[in-house]
Amino acid sequence: MAKKPLRSQFFITIFLLHILTPIQSQPFSRKLSKNSFGFKKEKLSHLHFYFHDIVTSDHPTAVKVAAGPVTNTSQSFFGLVMMMDDPLTLKPDPKSKVIGRAQGIYASADLEKLGFLMVLNYCFTEGKYNGSTLSILGRNAALTPVREMPVVGGSGLFRFARGYALAKTHSLDFKTGNAVVEYDVFVLHY
Ligand SMILES: *[C@@H]1O[C@H](CO)[C@@H](O)[C@H](O)[C@H]1NC(C)=O
Ligand SMILES: *[C@@H]1O[C@H](CO)[C@@H](O)[C@H](O)[C@H]1NC(C)=O
Repeated sequence: MAKKPLRSQFFITIFLLHILTPIQSQPFSRKLSKNSFGFKKEKLSHLHFYFHDIVTSDHPTAVKVAAGPVTNTSQSFFGLVMMMDDPLTLKPDPKSKVIGRAQGIYASADLEKLGFLMVLNYCFTEGKYNGSTLSILGRNAALTPVREMPVVGGSGLFRFARGYALAKTHSLDFKTGNAVVEYDVFVLHY
């Protein structure tokens, strides 16, 4: 019976020591206020543009860089990997004003249906967003009317960005594979 209070005293002492010891800040991290960095109010922006995937042309903007052992016989081209640097324009007309490029990879990642893994950056080249980027990582079931892909981040004016992109096929030439896709992007950023 005499042992029990001693033991609980010991644990209380350890506990007090633990909470009274100041938490050491790590040498590689510190807290900052958002205002000191100029991040004041979060904004919601809507971007609208057309994406031109030119596969068949003298100057293609999307090229095959890899294929898997079943890509040729798969109805969904499973394993196909394409690298793109596709122009983004204001209007569906490819000759309309270019406002940026979609640079990255789309790869067939669905064994059954057409479903691309999209890993790309929108690199804007016009107006105040010139030099800023948005990063997309998502699934694109290209034959469905509207596809939603997450915006996972950004740079420049899009630092701390998050949001989503909605893609709708504007035109698709089944012979050449060339496509124009309308994008509506909704993004929260500072
Ligand atoms: C798939 O088809 C392409 C073009 O016809 C050919 O070059 C390639 O060798 C084929 N790949 C396989 C794994 O059969
Ligand atoms: C965008 O920025 C680049 C690099 O700073 C510059 O060379 C280019 O002229 C700018 N484009 C526009 C349309 O302002």
